[in-house]
Order: sequence, then structure tokens, then C-alpha cells
Amino acid sequence: MAAKALTLLLLCLVTVCNCMEVTYDSRSFMIDGERKLLISGSIHYPRSTPEMWPDLIKKAKAGGLNMIETYVFWNAHEPEQRKYDFTGNLDLMRFLKTVRDEGMYIMLRIGPYVCAEWTFGGFPVWLHNLDGVKFRTANDVFMNEMQNFTTLIVDMAKKEKLFARQGGPILITQIENEFGNVEHPYGEAGKVYMNWAANMAVSLDTGSPWIMCQQKDAPPIVINTCNGWYCDDFTPNNASSPKIWTENWAGWFMSWGSVRPKRAAEDVAFAVARFYQTGGSLQNYYMYHGGTNFGRTAGGPYITTSYDYDAPLDEYGNLNEPKYSHTKQLHNLLMSMEKPLTEGKVTHIDFGNGAEGTVFVDGQTTSCFFSNKNTSSDALIKYQDMNITVPAWSVSILPDCQTEAYNTAKVNTQTSVMVKRENGAENQPSALKWSWRPENLDVAVIQGKGSIHASEILDQKVLNDMSDYLWYMTSVDIDEKDPVWGTNMSIRINGTGHVLHAYVNGEYVGSKWAKYDVHNYDFETPVKFKPGRNQISLLSALVGLKNYGAFFDDYRAGVCGFVDIVGRNGDEIVTKDLAGHQWVYKNSLHGLDNQLYSQTSKFSAKWQLGYLPVNRSMTWYKTTFKAPLGKDPVVLDLLGLGKGYAWVNGNNLGRYWPSYLAPEDGCDDECDYRAKYDASQCNYGCGEPTQRWYHVPRDFLSATGVNELVLFEEFGGNPSQVNFKTVVVGSACGSAYEHKTMELSCQGRSITQIKFASFGNPMGTCGSFKKGTCEGSKDALSILQKACIGKETCSLVANENIFGPTSCADSPKKLLVEAVCAI
Ligand code: GAL
Repeated sequence: MAAKALTLLLLCLVTVCNCMEVTYDSRSFMIDGERKLLISGSIHYPRSTPEMWPDLIKKAKAGGLNMIETYVFWNAHEPEQRKYDFTGNLDLMRFLKTVRDEGMYIMLRIGPYVCAEWTFGGFPVWLHNLDGVKFRTANDVFMNEMQNFTTLIVDMAKKEKLFARQGGPILITQIENEFGNVEHPYGEAGKVYMNWAANMAVSLDTGSPWIMCQQKDAPPIVINTCNGWYCDDFTPNNASSPKIWTENWAGWFMSWGSVRPKRAAEDVAFAVARFYQTGGSLQNYYMYHGGTNFGRTAGGPYITTSYDYDAPLDEYGNLNEPKYSHTKQLHNLLMSMEKPLTEGKVTHIDFGNGAEGTVFVDGQTTSCFFSNKNTSSDALIKYQDMNITVPAWSVSILPDCQTEAYNTAKVNTQTSVMVKRENGAENQPSALKWSWRPENLDVAVIQGKGSIHASEILDQKVLNDMSDYLWYMTSVDIDEKDPVWGTNMSIRINGTGHVLHAYVNGEYVGSKWAKYDVHNYDFETPVKFKPGRNQISLLSALVGLKNYGAFFDDYRAGVCGFVDIVGRNGDEIVTKDLAGHQWVYKNSLHGLDNQLYSQTSKFSAKWQLGYLPVNRSMTWYKTTFKAPLGKDPVVLDLLGLGKGYAWVNGNNLGRYWPSYLAPEDGCDDECDYRAKYDASQCNYGCGEPTQRWYHVPRDFLSATGVNELVLFEEFGGNPSQVNFKTVVVGSACGSAYEHKTMELSCQGRSITQIKFASFGNPMGTCGSFKKGTCEGSKDALSILQKACIGKETCSLVANENIFGPTSCADSPKKLLVEAVCAI
């Protein structure tokens, strides 16, 4: 009887577990022996909110992906040693389960070094302050902590049965991140560490293969993978590893003071098609949804709060068109060719001048890819009895080697122009009503008081990075015995970052900051020192810690180098070095310590109404507002402000810095995608604030009640123009080549007007389309008006049956339409 029960129980266990065996060879991953083509996208869970996750993941699935990738962010989860946080948008297990529930696979890149434009590359700062620690090398203190955290994450996922072997969605796991790029300076110890990391990961026995990206010397127990804008030329270092592209950079990130990047959909599709044409088995968009660096999570330093990345889903979760749908069509086609791509017999043909063909034969099916890497001339390819024209820098896919189903340069989907729409909340006053209070600076700038004392200038990281702000304070006696006495004096300060505000004897004397990639600043300003004791108080403000490079953890943050009083007397210069003085340190700011941004702060009543000071540094502002109606994403317009933080109902939206403008030059009005992309091309936003708009996720807001906005303004600004808007599709420009279907969508609102429609050879970009030299005989505009106005979506096939015969002869015909959406 007992034996029967046990058999039954075992049977049940076997049937409830959809346990999957994940294996691989040089062609592909296999699940229970079945070959899989994997198309993945990065969504970093802390860069959105749990309420946004299901929608983002659904959109990723609808976009043709079958896998989601995320890093794991160690310093967010373990802010203090052995004190963990997995709540709210750090609820990693909830995120993984949301992906599972959508029926998608997961690539979990634990790192725990992640780079990712995340502060300190994801390492906790307390780790840096442990005795004897050295990062990313053969160092017991470091390796012990790394193993501890990696094991914790693996154990959590095992407990929730999330690994494929347990019937869960995690197919692939990553240890380290691009260590190979920086390994050399670590010497032999680096190599020992890298091998240790691989072995440690594998010993955790997840049943899912481990990868190491950009690791040419990866041991055979792990798979090395490629990161970049293109990975078609990549070959893994081990003959039995599949070809994996862990980071297909869908665009690029922004730094304060930078222009905004754009990577054309045609180029992204080209890179993806080339990758699968050349034997790729898994590619992952970095990012598919970039999202937002809330709070103090941005690293770099100088990385913006927005991490939009020009990804297929924009920062707010809207479809970034045409990138989203143009790649979706490609994904669906590639998936339909899964078998030939992963099992078929492969033949390559070199047509010369950058043109290549690849033929996959699988049983009765023969599929062809024809690519043209030439950046200026179209390729005229003769294959069997066909003549195929492949436009410059494009790939044509013919799943039956007869008919072109897709060409990466031919966009048959809409381009959406997103607009910011009025708040729309009922009874919302036209301007927000502000109260304010000054930051209390007296203890630092007048009294010079703090709790830490040292006779040296400290790296700002010594205090475990509990705040962006640290006061460096000292006093100096100047009398007639001093060589600087009677000279023209100035104060000179050197720092590695990031922003400095200097005060002498209670008076503000100036500020200075470095730039992204230029980490040092030298600050010098004339100061009237008085005889006797002088109080020097320097406020250093971090803009995220360094996240990349060999030994990046040793890079100092804050005031460092020197603090001198410089005396000038004609050509003679004398210097009084203050570095070895007695320094006093005070962490954070009074208002932050007392949580002025929180409705429960004990100071919540002490705000001043009436007169509103503007351009006043170190000032707190507060207002209330109603949430915009509806479900569209909400943004906060901070034009007019300098630099600081914004909180909505106590949630830190991230650092703001709208006064930091992009350079006037370096933007491309006409962006030609036909060449290897890098982040210096196709930029826009010259002369504008790098980031003016700040995302307020709906779940930070009360839909019906009163919401509170608090700003801490560090530089000085004017909040009177601050307002909330929603982000919606303003106009939709449809494009379809002959015989393709043109679909237009205002994403939930109706089409109110057709501004342009032409079938023939029209040209231009969305917003400035022009008719060409030939056109269908029927009135395209009225056809479109009839089919689309008043509807949320409409679709039409672009052909002469509908639009009438054209005089375009053999030249390729297409339909271009500009529709206006109700806002
Ligand atoms: C890669 C890195 C990513 C990210 C990316 C740039 O080198 O692995 O984490 O930083 O660069 O966005």
C-alpha cells in the first residue's frame, strides 16, 4: 500500500514538473533535445515598477520575443552588508514570475558586477570599504562576498522553482560582465579570478548553462558571448558553444550635457538579420525597455535619469515606432524559420562587393538570406534564375528562396511622433501653487560642524555612499607671518567629481563640476580671506559613482587632489596647502536627513507660502497636484530648474538637471543609417536640455486624491513653469511598400485628420512628406480619409487596385501617409 502511494506521489511530482533539460551545441540551445531560436530583450526590473512589468513583458512578447533578460543589482538588494531588500521594484522573484506567467524564457545575468550605467556597476560601496578587499581579482574578501550574493540569488530562484530544470523559465545565467575587456591590467590574478568565477557559478548547480560575455578566454564550462552594435563576425572561443549576442545595443544611453541618441530601425534590423544569417542562435536587445534611473541609481558618473536608450519600448513603456514593429515583423519571420535556421544545411555564397547569400536547406524547405554590406550601392544579385536587388546596408529574407518576405531597409510600419499633452485633470489650477523653505546650511557653512574628523581629504566613498552630499570643512588661520598675507588670494580646489559648491566664512564663493568622461575639475576663485580664523566649507555632490574600467572602484569620488589658498603678488605665486589640515566631515543635507520630501516629515508644516524665491540655490519647493486623467504615462516638465531631486508622494524620481544643455553642434538632421552605427551618429536635441521630462509612473500617483511634489533645488531655478503632462502618439506616419499592408494606429485614441497620402514614389520623413514624380490615379487622400478618420486603427493594402494605376513603371512603389491623432 505504502509503495503504491509513493509511486503515485512520484508520478504526481513528475507530472506537475514541466522539467526541461537545457543543452546546446554550436548551432543552438536545445530544450529537451528540441532546437530553439531565441530572441530576447533586456528589461531591468528596478528601472520600472511592478505595476508596469506585466504590460512591458506583454508588449515584448507581442513584439515577437520569446525571452527576457535582466541583470541583478547587488547594491540595490544589499545596501548594507547582510541587510537585504527585495521589496517594491526590487522584487526580483515577482519580476521573474511575471515573465514566466507570460510564457517567456529568462536570461538571468547575475553579474554581480553589471556595469549597466548603474552606480558603482552594481557593487555595494560597503564592499569597497571592507579591510583588504580588491575587486574583480583573486582576493578572498571579494570572492567570498561575490559568492555569497550569487548563491543567495540562485537559492532564491531555486526555492521558487524558476530554473528550467525545475520547470521554470530561466534557461541561461551569466556570471561577471565583460571582464575580458579589462582583464589584462589585473595580470595573472585576474585570470585566476575569472576561472574561479566560472567554476563557482557552475558549482551552484542550476542546470542552466552559464555564460560570460566578452570573455575570449572563457573556460569551456561556460559560453563566451558577444556585446556590441553588430555581432555577425563573432565566433565563440569554444567550438561547441552556440553563437550568442548578449547585448545588441538598440540605441545608446545619455549623459548630462549630451545630445540624444537615435539608432535607426533599419540598422537595428540589419544587424539582427545579419546575426541570424551568420549562424546566430540567441540575440538580446540591450535595452528592449530602458526605463528610468530612479533615486540615486544612475552611475557613470553623469548618466541621466532617463535610460530610454532609444529602445523598442520607450522610457514610459510606449511603442517606439518604427523600431518596435519593424523588428517585430523580423522576429516573426525568423521564428517561422526556426527549423531551417537551427538545423538546416548551410551554404554561403560570396557575390562580391559586400554582397553575401546564405542558403539554409531543411528537408523540403530552402530559405535564403541575401545581405549587402556595401554602404552606398545597391547589390544586383543573380541567384539561380532570379535577379534580386538588395539595397545598400540591408538584408533580404526569402523564406522559400523565391519571394522576398522582408528587407531590413524597407520599413512597412508606422512611425509615431510622440507628443506631451496637457494634464487633463479636472479642476487642476492653470499654475501650481508652491511653498518653499531654505536648506539649513548654517551648521556647515558657519559653524563648520560635523561628526567625522580626519587630517586628510577623504574619498567620498568612505561613508558607504549613503547620500550624494558630503561637506568637507576646515578652518584656516591667516596672519602676517603667512606668505599669502597681503597677496591677492584665491581658493583652488581639485576634484574628481562631481559637483562642488564652495563657501568661505558663510559666503558662497562659487561652484564647479566636471563632465561625463572628463572626471577632473580644477576650481579657482578669488576670495577675500580675513585676518585670523576663516571657515572653509565645501559641499561635494555625487552624480553617480564610476561603473566601468579596470580598477574603477579605486577611482576617488568627491573633493580630492588638493585644496590650496593661492596668493598672487605680481608674478610671484605662493601656495598654502590645506590637504593635511584637520578636516571635519558631515554627511548628507539637513533636509534629506529630515525627509522633507515625505508627507510624514516632522518639518512638513514649516513651509513658507506667498512670495516665491527664484534662482535661489539650496532651496526646497513643495506643491500639490491632481493626477492627469486616464492611463497614459505621466511626465513632469522641469524646464526652468537647475539641478536637484524631485519626489512625488515621497518617491524619488531621480536626479534632475534640465539646465545642463547639449552642445549646439553634433546633430544630424538627415540620418543616413547606411553604415556602421556608433553613438556619435544620428543624434538630436542639440542646444536643448539633455533631459527636460521626468517619468512619474502611474503607481506613484493617487488617481483620485491629492498628490505632493517636492523639489530640492541645488543650483537655483524657477519652478513656476513646472507642470505635468501625458505622453501620447501625436501623429502616425504610415509606410508600406507595394503589396504590403499599411497599418495605422493612434494607440487607443482616434485618427482625426489625414494630412498626407500618396501611392507612387513619395519621399521625405514623417512630418515633411512630399509627393514624388509618379502617383496612383485615384485620390489617395480621400481613400485614406474614408478608411481611417474616426477610427483608432485602420489598414489598407498598398497596391494599384486600390490607388489606381501609376506611371512609376518598374521603380518600387510605396504608400506614405501622415495621420493626426486626437489629443
Ligand atoms: C556594455 C555593458 C552594459 C552597458 C553597455 C552600455 O559594455 O556590458 O552593462 O553598460 O555597455 O550601455
